Amino acid sequence: MSAQRVLVAYGSKAGATAGIAEEISRTLQADGFDTVVLPADVVTDVSGYDAVVLGGALYAGHWTGKARRCARRNAKQLRERPVWLFSSGPIDSSAEQHEIPPVRGVARRMEKLGARGHMTFGGAVTAETSDPVARAMVSRGKGGDFRNPERIRTWAHHIGSELEAAR
Ligand SMILES: Cc1cc2nc3c(=O)[nH]c(=O)nc-3n(C[C@H](O)[C@H](O)[C@H](O)COP(=O)(O)O)c2cc1C
Repeated sequence: MSAQRVLVAYGSKAGATAGIAEEISRTLQADGFDTVVLPADVVTDVSGYDAVVLGGALYAGHWTGKARRCARRNAKQLRERPVWLFSSGPIDSSAEQHEIPPVRGVARRMEKLGARGHMTFGGAVTAETSDPVARAMVSRGKGGDFRNPERIRTWAHHIGSELEAAR
């Protein structure tokens, strides 16, 4: 049987969410899936994939526009296949301590797409960012990288096992 093809798409402004998407992809690949990672703004057709994982960075309580528009643009095809959503956000350890539910817009999107699940991962704001607000956060000591590769891999394995079970 050929490997299932999984698209991991991300809406990122400063790269942290892209890094999470890459980690998810690497994990699924190690689990035997054929994966492709793409920025959300170039995704116009998901018909060639058996499943899709779509993530967005959170800014002021919303997914970045690239992720929102990707979900909207591909809604019909996304509804026809297994979909998982993730958000990258908190610049603290809160995502480690308890499961953070999706923000309202993402919860609505989950319903519309019939998404199988959602996870909020800690985000990152580092000195490399070009965003002036983010730079100000870093200079006030409020930045950091709160992405936890182990948590990301655990969630990706969970997606992999659900896809295998549904085969
Ligand atoms: C101006 C600004 C606003 C933010 N707003 C939120 C927010 O509302 N909720 C949240 O969890 N994280 C928030 N964050 C943290 C980002 O979501 C986090 O840094 C994310 O990982 C960035 O992803 P990216 O590098 O892919 O753009 C904010 C960061 C900045 C710089």
